[in-house]
This record gives sequence, structure tokens and C-alpha cells, in this order.
Amino acid sequence: MELSDFKSFLGQPIYEDKNALIYHGDSLELMNFIPQESLPLTVTSPPYNIGKEYEFVLELDDYIEWIAKWINQVYHCTSSQGSFWLNLGYLSIPKKAKAIPISYLIWDKVPFYLIQEIVWNYSAGVAGKLFFSPRNEKFLWYVKDHKNYVFNLDDVRDPNVKYPNQKKNGKLKCNIKGKNPTDVWQIPKVTSGKNRSSKERTPHPAQFPVQLVSRIILASSQVNDIVFDPFFGSGSTAEAAIKNGRKVIGFEINENYINIAIERIKKICYNESGTIKQGNLFDIITNNS
Ligand SMILES: C[S@@+](CC[C@H](N)C(=O)[O-])C[C@H]1O[C@@H](n2cnc3c(N)ncnc32)[C@H](O)[C@@H]1O
Repeated sequence: MELSDFKSFLGQPIYEDKNALIYHGDSLELMNFIPQESLPLTVTSPPYNIGKEYEFVLELDDYIEWIAKWINQVYHCTSSQGSFWLNLGYLSIPKKAKAIPISYLIWDKVPFYLIQEIVWNYSAGVAGKLFFSPRNEKFLWYVKDHKNYVFNLDDVRDPNVKYPNQKKNGKLKCNIKGKNPTDVWQIPKVTSGKNRSSKERTPHPAQFPVQLVSRIILASSQVNDIVFDPFFGSGSTAEAAIKNGRKVIGFEINENYINIAIERIKKICYNESGTIKQGNLFDIITNNS
């Protein structure tokens, strides 16, 4: 399905260009209008129910029920070879856990097949005196069909190989495109603060690094595919998608964040002439970190 076809189901977006459609509203409601098996890739980071400025804190059971509902909607919309990448952190449960991985609480509520959990490791974060300083979040990589899914490993190989010329029986040991980036990704967080603010930082309080989303998009979708983010925030998924030759649909409930995302798409993704500012995984790493 082409990007513009979605308008006949979802109506007029709050923003559109040839690569992006953004809708203002509750993703649970909007997702009802997305046709079955129409989206090859969803990448998202939902509210963690921890009292951030963009969330109403729910009772734990209600929060889990809410997550299960929208994940089931994503499943319905995902195409047969499609993937769903879900970024989750931690929440505290009084008398039970200071920081329980949210993924533990939803493991049996998800209809997708879990390929693996990726550890996103970063250096910035809160300090600890009575516990180890937390320095990771997780990405759960789910697919619809565990025997048939998109995985472009060559497009995300890490060229930083220690001994690239090492040979065995006369043949190079390592793939010339680089090594498998493994399931632990060391990618800097988007930081704020006078002297340590990341270049890509927007006023959104929980922004994904574009490098992180780029690796996911390159690995799990093809050029011209549509990438969906139901919790769009500042539009990091849009930046990564457009710069890597994909298209994007985003849902966001907060209009201020939508305005940040629109500005970002216009400024960061396009040259004045309207052409796309190309980016690849490793350009984005060096330009933004
Ligand atoms: C963790 S943030 C996403 C940040 C995003 N990945 C980025 O890089 O900017 C979650 C976002 O979900 C939005 N949100 C919360 N509830 C929503 C809902 N029911 N429907 C749509 N968006 C929602 C919040 O306003 C917030 O911007």
C-alpha cells in the first residue's frame, strides 16, 4: 500500500509530505482505522507509566491492560513478514521491585513471536549509592512469522573490525561489510544540560537517538517501506525513516510534540530544495553523537 492510501482510512493528517503522515490523537483509537496486515514495521517507545510529563499514571493492572490492547492492534496491522520493535524501560512496584523490567509484566500478553531482546547500553544516567547505576533499556524484537521475516544484516554490519585482514585457509575471516553488531548496542542517549546536550536534542523529554532507530529500520525494512510509530513524540522515527529512504506514519496525542516533530522533519530531513538529506547509519552516528 502507498503512503497516501492510508488517508482514505485515517482521514486528513495534521501534517503530510511525500514521506510522512502525522495524525493527532489517541493511538488506540486511530489504530482501529489501519487496515489489516498493511504495515511492514512498527518501532515505538510507549509511556512507561512513571509520571513523565506526557502520561497519566494508571494502576499497574490498567497499564498492562492498555499495553496489551494496543500491542494487539499493532499485531493486526503488521504484514506477514513484518516486525514490531518495542522499547521498554522499568517501573517500580511498591514492596515488590524498585525497577522491574516492563517486559517481564507483558511477556504473555503479546501475540507476536519474540526473536530476541536487544540491550541498549549508554553511559549517561542517574547515579546509585545503594544499587548499581542503571545504564540500559531494552528493545524487544517481535515478528509475525518466525520462519519468514525481513532481516538485512548486511545493511547494519559494524565496520569497526579489529583484524579485518585476518584469513583462514586463504579466505578473509570477517565479512568485508563488517561484523554482526550483536545484541548489545552501545549508543549514546539523547542528553540535555548546558554543556552536555546532544546535537539532536529537542524539547521532548524522552527522545530516541536517531542512530538507534536507524539500525532497526535498516535491519527490519526495505527502501520505500512505511515505518509506523504510534507514540511519535518528537519524530525521531521520522528522521531515521526519511533519511534512510523509508516513509513514516506517526500518531501523537500531544500537539506541542507534533509541532516539534514537524519542525524537525522540515529542517533535518530536507534541503531547501526539498530533496532528502541522505543519511546512513554511520553518518548519523558521527553527525549526531
Ligand atoms: C516515550 S515518548 C516517545 C518519544 C519518541 N520515541 C521520540 O523519540 O521523541 C511517548 C510519547 O507517546 C505520547 N502518547 C502518550 N499516550 C498516547 C496515546 N494514547 N496516543 C498517542 N500518543 C500518546 C506522548 O505524548 C509521548 O510523546
